Amino acid sequence: MEALIKQAAKDLAACKEAVALTGAGISVESNIPPFRGKGGIWEKFDPMEYAHIDAFMNDPAKVWNTLLKDMKEVMDRAEPNPGHLGLARLEALGKLKTVITQNVDGLHQLAGNTDVIEFHGNFAWHYCLLCKTRLKTGDVDISRIPPRCACGGIFRPEVVFFGEMIPTQALWRSRQAASKCDLMLVVGTSAVVQPAALMPVIAKQAGAKVIEINPEITPLTGSISDYLIQGNAGETLSAILAELDALL
Ligand code: OAD
Repeated sequence: MEALIKQAAKDLAACKEAVALTGAGISVESNIPPFRGKGGIWEKFDPMEYAHIDAFMNDPAKVWNTLLKDMKEVMDRAEPNPGHLGLARLEALGKLKTVITQNVDGLHQLAGNTDVIEFHGNFAWHYCLLCKTRLKTGDVDISRIPPRCACGGIFRPEVVFFGEMIPTQALWRSRQAASKCDLMLVVGTSAVVQPAALMPVIAKQAGAKVIEINPEITPLTGSISDYLIQGNAGETLSAILAELDALL
């Protein structure tokens, strides 16, 4: 692992424009549970029953009670961890241009990254299904479930549910960033949800180096990624940055 950390620092030192693709794993150290694997949300809930747009439209109270209320509480308390801070530092060093994230927690922006593409929307805002009024998530009154707007409509988060389109701009910009970069860091994603998992494939096809940071192997390992650093995001990115500092 130490040799791969040194290799990643060397590759970052040599690259001109890196892009990161992140997933739920980078926020695990901020106490936000992942979706798959040990302690994952989809171990308890079937995503088609709770995270599909049809499920929400059919029974918003059920989805609010089982999933969204908890998400709101967990995200209200979450702070960036050394993984997020490592990516912000890479931007400050002029190495990392864009973060494409599947996360909806806003922690990359809080850490200091300025170009964050939110592939699956974000949980910072809600809007009313009826009159489309937008409200900051902190101002949504959840003392009554489902929360309602003054007009009587139900609030939903600005996240992408299963069965919904990826925001066009996010998809378009991600594809551009992936095909332009010369190094892609893939951090804390199981790489099984499309089309996000296609971004490292696009980067690879365009000639970029692809480096994974994840405690587990993924479908990208050994085929799309050049190498996997098998560890937690926070620890691994901190170690890479310490090496990189010595090289720059
Ligand atoms: P997953 O929950 O599928 O995968 C999390 C990944 O993070 C796994 O590969 C873990 O091995 C890894 N991991 C766990 N702890 C880690 C740590 N401390 N450091 C680094 N990695 C760690 O999350 P995503 O790949 O983000 O979609 O899932 C993709 C999409 O599926 C989500 O955006 C969400 C979900 O359904 C929507 O909500 C539309």
